[in-house]
Amino acid sequence: MKGQHREVPTIRDAALYDVPQLALLDLICFPDHAFPAETIQRFIELGQPCVVAEGLASGGVIAFAMLMPEPEEGTGALMTIDVDPDHRCHGLGRELVRWCARYLRGMDEPMWLMWLTVATRNSGARTFYDRLGFVEVDLIAEYYRDDDAIVLVHRDLEGLEGNGPSLDLPTSPPK
Ligand SMILES: CC(C)(COP(=O)(O)OP(=O)(O)OC[C@H]1O[C@@H](n2cnc3c(N)ncnc32)[C@H](O)[C@@H]1OP(=O)(O)O)[C@@H](O)C(=O)NCCC(=O)NCCS
Repeated sequence: MKGQHREVPTIRDAALYDVPQLALLDLICFPDHAFPAETIQRFIELGQPCVVAEGLASGGVIAFAMLMPEPEEGTGALMTIDVDPDHRCHGLGRELVRWCARYLRGMDEPMWLMWLTVATRNSGARTFYDRLGFVEVDLIAEYYRDDDAIVLVHRDLEGLEGNGPSLDLPTSPPK
């Protein structure tokens, strides 16, 4: 149930010991096309940015996001963002996207654009991205097994980053 458990999470880099929890959360969020645990593990092993929100009371992962910088293009792909259903609509998703924007802007060669794909039927996520200022630029037919994908971009990473955290959170600094 939405917002049933309200607790102040901490934001930190993902570690290999998080992988089982991340895979489980991705399966909850995307029953039809979750990342296998091996893919998430490889992502972290390769040092790709992966951020988790950990509930201090529960000690468990309640949200995470995987980001893939593309330095040659000056862009970054948001591979996934997953918020536990019990912890949605409290600003956690926005906080993780902000973390991603900070990460991209903090790189040696700062990136200028973040992009992602979202299933056309995922109306909740589409509203979420709209609220954050992402805009639709393309549609890819049959991208998912049972749905088309909309390509969304955000070209103002400084604006997306915002002025400080949207939640009163202890955060690890962007690399
Ligand atoms: C989409 C998702 C990441 C949003 O996370 P969240 O923590 O609930 O979002 P936030 O609380 O930060 O919401 C930010 C804004 O989006 C809005 N929003 C978030 N989810 C929404 C929904 N389902 N319907 C309408 N608006 C929504 C919020 O109201 C808020 O608006 P505001 O600007 O008025 O404050 C989360 O619902 C989720 O993990 N969904 C399943 C996985 C998924 O679809 N990921 C995206 C795949 S591309």
